[in-house]
Amino acid sequence: MKSTNITWHDSKVTKEARQKQKGHKSPVIWFTGLSGSGKSTLSVEVEKALYESNIHSYRLDGDNVRHGLNKNLGFSPEDRKENIRRIGEVANLMSDAGLVTLTAFISPYREDRDEVRELMDEKEFIEVYVKCSLEEAEKRDPKGLYKKARSGEISGFTGIDAPYEEPNAPELVVETDQQTLEESVASVINYLRENDYID
Ligand code: PPS
Repeated sequence: MKSTNITWHDSKVTKEARQKQKGHKSPVIWFTGLSGSGKSTLSVEVEKALYESNIHSYRLDGDNVRHGLNKNLGFSPEDRKENIRRIGEVANLMSDAGLVTLTAFISPYREDRDEVRELMDEKEFIEVYVKCSLEEAEKRDPKGLYKKARSGEISGFTGIDAPYEEPNAPELVVETDQQTLEESVASVINYLRENDYID
């Protein structure tokens, strides 16, 4: 259902003014990858590194957001789409507020991620593919969910009986089954520096 009779109200404080006040840009860093690929671990460490450099940032994480904002959503393709749509909208607001926004969601469908990209101002969406082989993710199995998916206790599990569509042209790829955590964090921070998002 679409809302009607609504009017957009502009703020007197622009996004550019907020960025200038904070001294850095406010992109959305969108981590995508399999369950167990290391999205949460990596985004937590990147957020910490940014905080320690006095960069205003905030992180939205799959499991956490599904406890609140998106607790009425499951894992059907439609629910995942709505999950990503809502996160995209929230991330866009946070970016508008001048925060470097980190999101850590499987976001398995290319089309859903591209729709979020379309929402953002140009260059404000940094897609980071947290690449890890299914074999390695399954070996890690930090929450025991792959085991449950293999035994049939969970159905529609990403990588087992639900798809994961790799990004075609992500801004950055980190290979968590090849690099150390420190190397992956450094490659994200370096990307931000080299592309003038942060000093
Ligand atoms: S999605 O696909 O982007 O909407 O998923 P997301 O919101 O990131 O939530 C993923 C976490 O939910 C747990 N979980 C599942 N993942 C995939 N498939 C199924 N069926 C499923 N059921 C529960 C799992 O802990 C995911 O966490 P991560 O951190 O990715 O391992």
